[in-house]
Amino acid sequence: SKYIRVFFTPFLLLYYCLMKKLIIGNWKMYPVELKEARERFTQIKKTASVLRNIQTVICPPLVYAGDLKKMVTGHRVTLGAQNAWLEQEGAYTGEVSPSQIRSVGLTHVIIGHSERRALGETDEMINKKILAGIKAGLVVVLCVGERERDKDGEYLKYVASQIKMALKNVQKKELSNVVIAYEPIWAIGKNALRAASSEDALEIAILIKKTLADMYSRDGSHVPILYGGSVNEKNANEFLTASRVDGLLVGRASLDPFVFGEILRGAEKVK
Ligand code: PGA
Repeated sequence: SKYIRVFFTPFLLLYYCLMKKLIIGNWKMYPVELKEARERFTQIKKTASVLRNIQTVICPPLVYAGDLKKMVTGHRVTLGAQNAWLEQEGAYTGEVSPSQIRSVGLTHVIIGHSERRALGETDEMINKKILAGIKAGLVVVLCVGERERDKDGEYLKYVASQIKMALKNVQKKELSNVVIAYEPIWAIGKNALRAASSEDALEIAILIKKTLADMYSRDGSHVPILYGGSVNEKNANEFLTASRVDGLLVGRASLDPFVFGEILRGAEKVK
């Protein structure tokens, strides 16, 4: 029986990893001091490290990542970056490459967040960043989402085209390194109208699945889909159940260890 255990354990682990909910905290450009970042990460880690059904990823300001990485033990809580450059090295003052991010032990990178697109990041750059991130061995979290909704459903075409452009030349075998986060711009941040409804998110989750099926047939169905935009401890579970997404991308609420802890504990219970 020992041999059976040794043989099957890797498959079981893989199975559990695939089943886990992925909850990502995007800290944006907060907090202002390293000490504060350390304290918040310690508290989040305490909650997250006992949850078996959740993979938690905190994306702090990159300058804190090396320090926080020293506090990481095990694989239930890891660190990610909020952005990366599109080449692995070179004369790009102020930029950080995916290989460099990977080399300090980060596991994920958010690509194409709407706040970066607003700073001038194009679909073509995002595509290059996705390819570079995968090549470096990171899990890339591609953000897509419409600025506003129209009655004719143009936003559906828009989101589908964002995905197609971002994943151009990404091969089937690389899809295990891809996550897609639906983040409607009208639902993000302090000035958000509101969070999307669970029906809004379900509609797009289905659209994303269909788009991936068009591009990759059945292989596309394993790509995890996240919802992001005004997620809090009250609405988190509804997205995980009613919208059937595989996880959440949380901004403001991830900076409060108590609130984020509530989101994590709630998600742990979702079947
Ligand atoms: P929010 O941000 O949760 O503060 O709306 C989400 C995001 O920008 O990823």
